[in-house]
Amino acid sequence: MRLLGIETSCDETSVAVVEDGRRIRSNVVASQVDVHARFGGVVPEIASRHHVESIGAILAAALEDAGTDLAAMDAVATTAGPGLQGALLVGLTAAKSIAFACDLPLVGVHHIHGHVAANFLENGEGGKPPDGAPGADASPLRPPALCLVVSGGHTDLIVVRSEVDLDVIGRTRDDAAGEALDKGARVLGLGYPGGPIIDRLAQQGRPDAVPFPRAWLPGSRDFSFSGLKTALLREAQSGSPHPVADLAASYLQAIVDVLVAKTLAAARDVGARQVMLAGGVAASTLLRARMERACADAGLPLRIPPRALCTDNAAMIAAAGYYLLRAGRRDDLDLNAVANLPLIT
Ligand code: KG4
Ligand code: ZN
Repeated sequence: MRLLGIETSCDETSVAVVEDGRRIRSNVVASQVDVHARFGGVVPEIASRHHVESIGAILAAALEDAGTDLAAMDAVATTAGPGLQGALLVGLTAAKSIAFACDLPLVGVHHIHGHVAANFLENGEGGKPPDGAPGADASPLRPPALCLVVSGGHTDLIVVRSEVDLDVIGRTRDDAAGEALDKGARVLGLGYPGGPIIDRLAQQGRPDAVPFPRAWLPGSRDFSFSGLKTALLREAQSGSPHPVADLAASYLQAIVDVLVAKTLAAARDVGARQVMLAGGVAASTLLRARMERACADAGLPLRIPPRALCTDNAAMIAAAGYYLLRAGRRDDLDLNAVANLPLIT
């Protein structure tokens, strides 16, 4: 089954062609990051306009990369929310137009479901099945899995019982991890987006230079990063004697310590057979390394998408859409974009 995937929920315009929720034939991502960088964050109206201007060309490029055309598609999957309303509408409208014109099934995907589904895609190991899996075409999911989704808008702990059965058991009470990194970078005058900049700079700094607070929230699986952000602001405003690389390393370490410890604790609690990582912050070198070490110590298999599939892309939306269609989900042409769509599967 060949799916066309479309993603425009924030500042990436992306179209992909994916077979059987697994094999990526193309995955074209046009980032608007340079456009928004001078504003220090995503400007919704500008994002929508850029999506409108580029969606046609990105669609053509994705079909050309895959050496195919719309007539060869079996269905269309598109992000229906959450995200910026105007941005979402561009991809959704393109998907509905294609579904109508080519008489294809349409399925709306929750953006976070898409991030989780990046783990179901072939991950650059040449389709090598994970240990114990029946074959290269099989889903690499070993349920129940516990997935930590860390993006610019979400920090969620999700129990994955099947490719379409997701249950959020923990979430951030204030800033998302990516948001904390982006705002932290702004405080340190490092530019936008802050996640990759802090991740890179942290490699040259001392992670124990500044004892930043960790909000463990005992007895809860939730996260909180606003106290940490305030602590960084106070440190910077009081003329910190520490080099900026030390501040970045200590700040990132505080975030990663909590993410890793709470993920492993939750995995133990729910009897997870596998841990997964997803979302833009899963591209972090430190988070990937620390999660690998912790899972190896706990004897838990870990799956992390390649970096390009951690940040927003349409292949992950096509992967989630494939499993939704297989489970009998299909949306009508009155499907709407919902900016704060809850994850209910
Ligand atoms: O999933 P994503 O692309 O978009 C949302 O759904 O929000 O995540 C974007 C977030 C941003 O906060 C960005 O700073 C962060 O992911 N990010 C990273 C890295 N690459 C992107 N954070 C840490 N290390 C990275 N290499
Ligand atoms: Zn995302």
